[in-house]
Amino acid sequence: MDIRKEITQLKAEKNAIILAHNYCLPEVQDIADFVGDSLALAIKASETDAEVIVFCGVRFMAEGAKIVNPEKTVLMPEPDALCPMASMCSPDQIISIRSGNPDAAVVGYVNSTAAAKTEMDICCTSANAVNVVDSLPQDVVIFVPDANLGAYVQSKLPAKRIIFWDGYCPTHQAITPAMVRNLKEVHPQAEVLMHPECRPQALELADFIGSTAGILERARSSSAQEFIIGTERGIIHRLRQENPAKEFYDFEVAICPMMKMTDLTSILDCLRHERTKVVLDESVAKRARTSLDRMLQLKG
Ligand code: 13P
Ligand code: SF4
Repeated sequence: MDIRKEITQLKAEKNAIILAHNYCLPEVQDIADFVGDSLALAIKASETDAEVIVFCGVRFMAEGAKIVNPEKTVLMPEPDALCPMASMCSPDQIISIRSGNPDAAVVGYVNSTAAAKTEMDICCTSANAVNVVDSLPQDVVIFVPDANLGAYVQSKLPAKRIIFWDGYCPTHQAITPAMVRNLKEVHPQAEVLMHPECRPQALELADFIGSTAGILERARSSSAQEFIIGTERGIIHRLRQENPAKEFYDFEVAICPMMKMTDLTSILDCLRHERTKVVLDESVAKRARTSLDRMLQLKG
């Protein structure tokens, strides 16, 4: 039987939903029930009636789905798909930085482990980081782990004092200001849409900065016909699908190998054998849920 048909059949038998991030392989995005940015995926995971969630993306996303659905089966077709940024800040490091700044709130990017989330006051994604920090009564905020996203939030909220951690995304860090300048020279009419995980000096060259969902929305609504896309290349699939008459240029270096691990074969295998289940320590999941729930309640 055709692999796509078999996946669809097994999905129906098991009352499963397939969630995929905007960076996944094109064929994975096409078979998914829902494709989105980290925030939309977390919301979708918290609202679904499906009994089984198949998460195509990286581990912190699948862990997030399990944290908000402790009673459901959450499967990862590729359990070794780990976001390198997520391991750049440990719970102990958060405890230590908090002890030096006892009045500060700790805001943690969802690109972090479940254990690190237990030490955060509230989570954020790239879509809502500015709103999350702005919503807090504290003037001083410890922002972990992404220094670039933290710097972007600081630029939008000068009244807050942000204490940064030194985490980063290797994929977005690879896009240098010189690369952006060069591509702008080749395509002077193009609008530059960038992700806030990029370096601040590269973001200075952007016309628009947003999450992957924000970039997709901007490309749809803009009157421009050409775009330079400063984020992981997987997003180009949806950009072209949704805007067939527009041109998109991206950066060869901007590939996240972890986001490319999941393919149709691993999804089929995952549904057939119900593996690999995301299993979290109960007390860790419970404590991590507080910071995730606070973010989801903000909805912005
Ligand atoms: P968003 O889709 O939330 O913008 O996240 C980007 C990312 O790098 C996820 O790992
Ligand atoms: Fe992590 Fe960067 Fe890959 Fe996103 S693109 S999963 S932040 S390494």
